[in-house]
Amino acid sequence: MKKSLKRIMVLVCFMLYINSYAQMERDYSKFTITGKYSIPKAPAWCQNAVFYQIYPQTYYDTNADGIGDLKGIIEKLDYIKSLGVTAIWLNPFYESPFRDAGYDISDYYKVAPRYGTTEDAKNLFSMAKAKGIRIIVDFVPGHTSIDHPWFKASADPKANPYSNWYIWTNCTWFKGMDKYKSDFIQGYCNRDGNYMTNFFWHQPALNYGWGNPDPAHPWQLPVNHPDVMNLREELKKIMRHWLDMGASGFRIDMAGSLVKNDPDQKIKEFWLEVRKMLDTEYPEAFIVSEWSYPINAMNAGFHADFFHWFGGFNDLCQRETKRNQFSEGHSFFDQEGKGNITNFLNNFYYHYNDTKDKGYISIPIGNHDLIRINNSGRTVNDLEIISAFLLTMPGVPFIYYGDEIGMRQLDIKECKEGAYYTRAGARTPMQWDKTPNLGFSKSDASKLYFPVDAAADAPNVAEENNDPNSLLNKTRKLIQIRSTEKSLSAYAEFVPVFAQENQYPFIYVRAADKERILVVLNPANQGKKTKIDLSINPKKMKLLAGNGIKISMEGKETIVSSDPVSYAIFKYTE
Ligand code: GLC
Ligand code: CA
Repeated sequence: MKKSLKRIMVLVCFMLYINSYAQMERDYSKFTITGKYSIPKAPAWCQNAVFYQIYPQTYYDTNADGIGDLKGIIEKLDYIKSLGVTAIWLNPFYESPFRDAGYDISDYYKVAPRYGTTEDAKNLFSMAKAKGIRIIVDFVPGHTSIDHPWFKASADPKANPYSNWYIWTNCTWFKGMDKYKSDFIQGYCNRDGNYMTNFFWHQPALNYGWGNPDPAHPWQLPVNHPDVMNLREELKKIMRHWLDMGASGFRIDMAGSLVKNDPDQKIKEFWLEVRKMLDTEYPEAFIVSEWSYPINAMNAGFHADFFHWFGGFNDLCQRETKRNQFSEGHSFFDQEGKGNITNFLNNFYYHYNDTKDKGYISIPIGNHDLIRINNSGRTVNDLEIISAFLLTMPGVPFIYYGDEIGMRQLDIKECKEGAYYTRAGARTPMQWDKTPNLGFSKSDASKLYFPVDAAADAPNVAEENNDPNSLLNKTRKLIQIRSTEKSLSAYAEFVPVFAQENQYPFIYVRAADKERILVVLNPANQGKKTKIDLSINPKKMKLLAGNGIKISMEGKETIVSSDPVSYAIFKYTE
């Protein structure tokens, strides 16, 4: 009896799995365009915002110590403004021993001296705002550095108010739970117990409690334990501090993983409380999570979520060289034409459909953890098609510094500040001009945070500024289109029109009321002729950007002809 019950359960699970998978496969050619949308509750300024991500250590160095600084960002505000972006995400600039490039904070209230002072941060926020640019800052609520005074107090064997602020087992020799063993550091200090980490060994997890505490392990506190509640209040205080200083919100690191063993998503309660605080005290503040599961992030009150660590993402433009569980090893945006847009789209659409009335998905085409999109010889045309995709998809777009000029992924062997493997090569200094250190710093080259691109043709701002066909100027144009067309706003309807497994091009429509934008992307090095189920009068279509795409009628059929490596953004009215 027991055995057959087990078999039935296995079968049911299997069917549920197949079903959920099947749910994700769609016939996109059957979708209808309505022009209807509802606007998620979010600060008005983010609906048309284009963000620019700045890694402070490598943007611009004003005091020749080889490390970028806040004054450097202030000096470059006019350039940032010239891109047409309206907001900045600034990576961590807090006091830190920098074992993970500042994601290991030792004082949440202080600017790291290498970046400047509190005064500089204030000035940066207010001077940017005066130019119409808002700044959101990185917030790392999941862990601190082992150098944080809270952790030092917590590691003290004598009980004190911080004892429970981190997750400690109650015995240093604890080995009972294989499931968690690898997450714990053994015998770190005189306190009898091991602490749990979130990322590197020096980033102990702050204690938000356990969703399902195991009664056999009383050190697993419930989510409403008074010490957990105290920590939560402190984190809200930190957020208020930066908002009061002029920040416009936060990018929130590893937001979904704070409560441990949390099948019922108890973490939601904390974030909903934060959202309530923002709605009442700081209604202009915007929060975007690094959760990578928009359905959960929006239910937890986030305005937006970065959607990356999922199957299909690496097949979009990351170009993983090895096949792995996340990737088939081919990017859709490569000329070889072996990509599969449905790997991305099925997953994306599943989340989009569920969250479009609640918040926004941000697709991180590049950031400080990812390989730069310009790697292994991508051309300016390839990169422009990727930008066109980023800037025409629904949600809030983020451009990683340097991607607007096509900075390359560099082969950096040095594992500086936890930038292991490919992360280092995506964090090299911004390339401003042809002067020494490519204009990033007046320091001796040996003192630079990372070396600059040594290639003779390293892309740089000064040269691209003067070339109307440069990636920089093309990106500016795309940003301008993105920010002015109503049907490209974050919330406007998104309807795939042609998206088929292993096929090119990818065609979709964005729609708001009677306005339409039709986007055709053919990154493959092969011309295509595609029949689409859309009755539009080609003569009424206005080309906003791109070329090499022709829309025509053959009898009653609408045909899209795409040249190799081409894209187009058309506008029309229904
Ligand atoms: C996030 C950050 C990454 C950091 C990690 C730990 O993924 O983007 O750079 O190392 O969190 O904080
Ligand atoms: Ca400096």
